[in-house]
Amino acid sequence: MESIKVGLLGLGVVGGGTWKVLARNAREIARRAGRHIEVSRVAVRDVAKARKLLGPDVAVCADPFEVVRDPSINIVVELIGGDMLARELVLEAIAQGKHVVTANKALLAKHGNEIFAAASARGVMVAFEAAVAGGIPIIKAIREGLTANRIEWVAGIINGTTNFILSEMRSRGLPFATVLAEAQRLGYAEADPTFDIEGIDAAHKLTLMASIAFGIPVQFDRAYIEGISKLAAEDIKLAERLGYRIKLLGITKRRPEGIELRVHPALVPTRSLLANVEGAMNAVLVRGDAVGQTLYYGKGAGEEPTASSVVADLVDVTRLLTADPESRVPHLAFQPDAMDDTPILPIDDVVTSYYLRFSVADQPGVLADVTRALANGGISIGSMIQQPTDSADTAELIFLTHEAVERNVNEAIAKIEALPFVHSRVTRIRMENLA
Ligand code: NDP
Ligand code: HSE
Repeated sequence: MESIKVGLLGLGVVGGGTWKVLARNAREIARRAGRHIEVSRVAVRDVAKARKLLGPDVAVCADPFEVVRDPSINIVVELIGGDMLARELVLEAIAQGKHVVTANKALLAKHGNEIFAAASARGVMVAFEAAVAGGIPIIKAIREGLTANRIEWVAGIINGTTNFILSEMRSRGLPFATVLAEAQRLGYAEADPTFDIEGIDAAHKLTLMASIAFGIPVQFDRAYIEGISKLAAEDIKLAERLGYRIKLLGITKRRPEGIELRVHPALVPTRSLLANVEGAMNAVLVRGDAVGQTLYYGKGAGEEPTASSVVADLVDVTRLLTADPESRVPHLAFQPDAMDDTPILPIDDVVTSYYLRFSVADQPGVLADVTRALANGGISIGSMIQQPTDSADTAELIFLTHEAVERNVNEAIAKIEALPFVHSRVTRIRMENLA
C-alpha cells in the first residue's frame, strides 16, 4: 500500500524526536498502522541545519505554508509552537482537507473551539495527545479508556519544568534560577519559560483535559492560574515538617454548581502518590464514578517521550483515514452537538483546604482574635503550630484548615491582616488531600 505522506512543521525538540522515532521504529510502526508513515516534507527556519539531519530524501523549506498546501501531503504535524502562525497553519491545513497532529497546547487552549469546529466541518482529524503531559497517553485514557464513566475530577502534575524546579529546590536546596536554567538545557521548558513558571502551560493542558472529561467547550480564559514564582523556600520547608510537599497542581472538578478549573501550588500529603512524583515527571489522577481513581505517570516533556505521543497520533490518524467522519472518536470526546454549558466556577467559589502562615505579636488574646476571624467565616481549623522568630516578641502562626469556601477564606484573611498585632501579610497556599 502507498505510504502516508507527512509534512512536518518544525524540527526542534519534539520535531527532531518525532523524526528519530519514526526512523528508528519504522518497521514496527508500519506493522501497527498498516502503512508506512513517511516524512516527505519539512519546514524549518534553518534549512541548512535540517538538511544535514534529514539527508537528501526529504524536501526541506523555510515556508511552512508550502508544506501545508502541498497536495501530496496527507497529514500535517505542527511542531512549531506559539499560537499565531500555528493557528493560521492549522486552519489552512484543515481547509486543504489535511489531517493535523499537534503538540501545541497553547494553540488548542486558546483556539481549540474554532479549530475543532473547522475540522469537523471539513471532516478531518486534529489529534493532540502530545499536547497534554507529553509521553503519557492521558487524552486517549480519558477520551476512550474511561468513556463509560462520569468523570468526577482530574488532578495532576502537568508541567515538568515546575515540578523539576520544586523537586530540586526541596531535595538539593538549589536556587530557583539554577534549576530553571537546567530545565531549559534539557529541553523541558517552553520557548517562553514564564509559561511554565506562572502556571500558564499547566492551565493550557488542564483546559484541554477539562473539555474531554466533562464535555464542555475549551475555556482557557476562565481558568484560575497561579504559578510558583511567589513561593517562598520557607513554605516548602515548613510544608515538609507538617507532612506535606508543595506541588504545582492542575485541578478540574465537577461540582453541582459548576466546574472548578484551577492551577496553583498546593500542599499534598507526603505519603500521597502525587507528592512522590519528582523531577520532570508528570502524573495525572482521574476519578471516574465507575472505575474510582486511576493514575497515569510518565515523562511529560522531552524529545522522544513527546514524540512517542506524536507518532501514536500519526498511527491513529492513519488507521482511521478510511473510516467515515461520523464514526471517528470526537475531537473533545463528546459529540459536538452534545456539549454541556455547565459554567466554570470563579475561584471565589472553590472549596478546598488551606495553609495559612503569618507573624504576630506574641501576647495574650492574639490567638483568640485570629481563631474568631476564622470561625466567623465558617472555617474550621485542622491543626495549628506556633513557632518562635528571630524577634523575641514576635511569633509565627501556621494554620491548616479543613475545607472551606475560598471567598470566606479571603474575607477571614483580610480581617486577620487588619488586626493590630498581625505583623505580616498572610501567606495562603491551598491544600489538596486528593481523596
Ligand atoms: P523548538 O523551539 O525546539 O522547535 C521549534 C521548531 O519550529 C524549530 O525547528 C524551528 O525551526 C521551527 N520554527 C519556528 N518558527 C518557524 C517558522 N516561522 N517557520 C518554520 N519553522 C519554524 O520547540 P519544541 O519542539 O520544544 O516545541 C514544539 C511544540 O511542542 C510547542 O507547541 C510545545 O509547546 C510543544 N511541546 C513541547 C514539549 C517539549 O518537551 N519540548 C513537550 C510537549 C509539547 P529552526 O530550528 O530552524 O529554528
Ligand atoms: N514546558 C512543558 C513542561 C513541556 O515543562 O512540562 C511539556 O509540555
